[in-house]
Amino acid sequence: MNNEYELIYEGKAKKVFSHNDSEKVIIEFKDDATAFNALKKAKFEGKGKLNCLISARIFELLKKNDIPTHFIKLKSENTMIAQKINVIPLEIVLRNTAYGSLCKQTTIKAGTVLLKPLIDIYLKNDELNDPLLTRDRIQLMNILSSQDLDLIIDLTIKINEILKSFFYNIQLQLVDFKLEFGYDFNNNIILGDEISPDNCRLWDLNQKNDTIVSLDKDRFRNDLGGLIEAYSEIYQRIKDFI
Ligand code: TMP
Ligand code: ASP
Repeated sequence: MNNEYELIYEGKAKKVFSHNDSEKVIIEFKDDATAFNALKKAKFEGKGKLNCLISARIFELLKKNDIPTHFIKLKSENTMIAQKINVIPLEIVLRNTAYGSLCKQTTIKAGTVLLKPLIDIYLKNDELNDPLLTRDRIQLMNILSSQDLDLIIDLTIKINEILKSFFYNIQLQLVDFKLEFGYDFNNNIILGDEISPDNCRLWDLNQKNDTIVSLDKDRFRNDLGGLIEAYSEIYQRIKDFI
């Protein structure tokens, strides 16, 4: 990005720049990948572009299904224009299938399909290592009203229904994903951040046996290799379907 725009925030995978319209921002998707709260770091050329293009398609799909999101339009292959939001410091994880931290912290076996989606809410705070919260802890910290928390949970469940069936149609199992929400200028809650293989677990259903083939950031987290090939495969399937 040229320096016509002011950098207002830099996260692990994205940079946020000001826009001429103060109600909008420009989001640049970086090639950097981190895992385990940035204990593990790498760069994958082309990841930013793929995540930006995938997120744009998914946000459009959600918009068509009446989910309010911050996405306005693509600016380039790795930048998008979005509504400026006041980010709620919570990471909302929805799990359809047990994997990852759920299996490290409980006795539930990896790959167990959950009878109903499980929602785990974490504090978005790198210094505290994004701890798992309870409803009471959220209330104690005065992060948001109980009503707004319910609204976010309802939206997450709706988003899961839309994404689960969409991904199933392109032969992908939506194992789990993480969302972030924020308040727009009218104080409405809208979906922010990104929806990409960086924050969703997607397993290939085009397999003859039961082996798990991850087409997401687990390729980096678990040193499986082939991250760009996996993300490209996801983008190709989405593009061919929509
Ligand atoms: P977990 O099994 O490590 O808790 O991850 C659950 C889902 O949330 C998985 O799809 C990856 C995503 N996630 C993020 O997007 N950011 C994070 O910081 C973490 C820990 C998980
Ligand atoms: N986003 C997190 C980190 O950087 C972890 C993850 O996605 O697994 O460190």
